[in-house]
Amino acid sequence: MSTAIELVGITKRFPGVVANDAVDLRVTAGEIHAICGENGAGKSTLMKILYGMQAPDEGTMRVNGTEVSFASPTDAIDAGIGMVHQHFMLADQLTVLENLILGAEPTKAGGRLDFASAEADLQRVAADYGLDVDLHEVVERLEVGERQRVEIIKVLYRGAEILILDEPTAVLVPQEVEALFENMRELKASGATILFIDHKLDEVLEIADTISVLRHGKMVSTLANEGVTASELAELMVGSELPTPDTAESTVTNVVALEVTNVTVLSEDRRPLVDNVSLQIHQGEILGIAGVEGNGQSELVDAIIGTERVNDGSISLHGDEITSWSVRERRTAGVGYVPEDRHHEGLLLTSPLWENAALGHQNTAPYGSKWFINRDGARQQTELIREQFDVRTPNIDVAAHALSGGNQQKLIVGRELTSNPSLLIAAHPTRGIDVGAQAAVWDQIRQARSNGLATLLISADLDELIGLSDTIVVMFRGKLVARLSPSAVTPRDLGGYMTGAQTQTLTEAAL
Ligand SMILES: Nc1ncnc2c1ncn2[C@@H]1O[C@H](COP(=O)(O)OP(=O)(O)OP(=O)(O)O)[C@@H](O)[C@H]1O
Ligand SMILES: [Mg+2]
Repeated sequence: MSTAIELVGITKRFPGVVANDAVDLRVTAGEIHAICGENGAGKSTLMKILYGMQAPDEGTMRVNGTEVSFASPTDAIDAGIGMVHQHFMLADQLTVLENLILGAEPTKAGGRLDFASAEADLQRVAADYGLDVDLHEVVERLEVGERQRVEIIKVLYRGAEILILDEPTAVLVPQEVEALFENMRELKASGATILFIDHKLDEVLEIADTISVLRHGKMVSTLANEGVTASELAELMVGSELPTPDTAESTVTNVVALEVTNVTVLSEDRRPLVDNVSLQIHQGEILGIAGVEGNGQSELVDAIIGTERVNDGSISLHGDEITSWSVRERRTAGVGYVPEDRHHEGLLLTSPLWENAALGHQNTAPYGSKWFINRDGARQQTELIREQFDVRTPNIDVAAHALSGGNQQKLIVGRELTSNPSLLIAAHPTRGIDVGAQAAVWDQIRQARSNGLATLLISADLDELIGLSDTIVVMFRGKLVARLSPSAVTPRDLGGYMTGAQTQTLTEAAL
């Protein structure tokens, strides 16, 4: 079989880190090739080099047998390579259609944009691969899963035959992962070569033909999928056996920390996004919310955190009604928040890590007080987070964008947990975090729970939901439709409730 990509001796250095260290990689045409490795192992860097976004310091690249040197992604696109990034790169204020044709505008004679023909082409590409999306919606209003479909269509529309997907499943719920894998199989059948990064080893084993493992910037192994187990893969990645997180005993108390009563949030056109939702979370309890993205979970979180207006109902925290409190007042009252989208809400990408660690907490010790920022206190606290949450970075003065995706996430989780909240709203807290670090974060959350933390957990990772939660509720079309015990539910059952295939009659009193 012919070779689509051959990388030889690729080295890339950043200040204080060798991100890629003499990496060799060979990808056969028409295969699905997974790249695995810990957070910061150099996966995204290697893919960005292949996509012309970063120049290697050393090494050579061949695409379909021809040596190439890319000055920019435009060169890579011309060579038939397309990439969907770990963090999406769409222009929020533009429509899907505008985003899709940005930079690849088809023109009528005379140089004017031919939207009509572009739209027809795009509809065809989308339909061919079953990638459903509304071309006229503004990107800002799309859910994460939909944004990803837009990115994939964009790459295909530009004629890519070699696709690079950086953690495509991190943002998807299981049903969507299945749909994505179906798309990937169709792409492969039509002759495409796919390179993808994934931290979920069962997914890798399901879809990949070949698996390459990076560790500390070096390529440690490339193997065929047959006969490999998830634990063998994990060992290759971390270089030792994985820690097994202990199953902690219940610490749920009778003290109510958060009470949401009959809360309704309406859309601009007055559709109920959150529909008469009531729930309680006690001190020492983790309440998990399962749901396919777009069923009101984000709006419920926004209502609790204070960024979304509540149209009806009330929210109270430790007995104080906070429905009309500002975000800052809620944060000061002890609400920690791990947002769904770490780039939009969680970090200031161009600011140094120590400022990011203080973000949202700059007016409280040790970061500062009402009147000033305590630089030394903030720096010390950042060092503590770095150590406790294993944030891998040369130092705390680098800008947040220089951290790998998983390490950015660890910084946010560390920032929120070390500020000792009494209520933690955690949306996908371990998204993009590698298997070893994930177990460590789970331990940290359990530890905080045993100290009385109340947690609202939203996660697309059903194993995480089942493993961490004391109680699971399912949200479907804005309503809570089921309340389940994690010890008596399988991911499959959960999937049934999440898609509405299975129902449970709920009395409000039960919630
Ligand atoms: N622009 C940059 N400036 C400085 N350092 C960088 C930059 N980009 C990446 N690095 C560093 O290079 C190393 C590899 O990062 P990379 O993003 O490739 O990791 P990754 O394997 O994709 O990790 P993750 O699973 O967390 O996404 C990390 O130590 C990271 O901090
Ligand atoms: Mg990465």
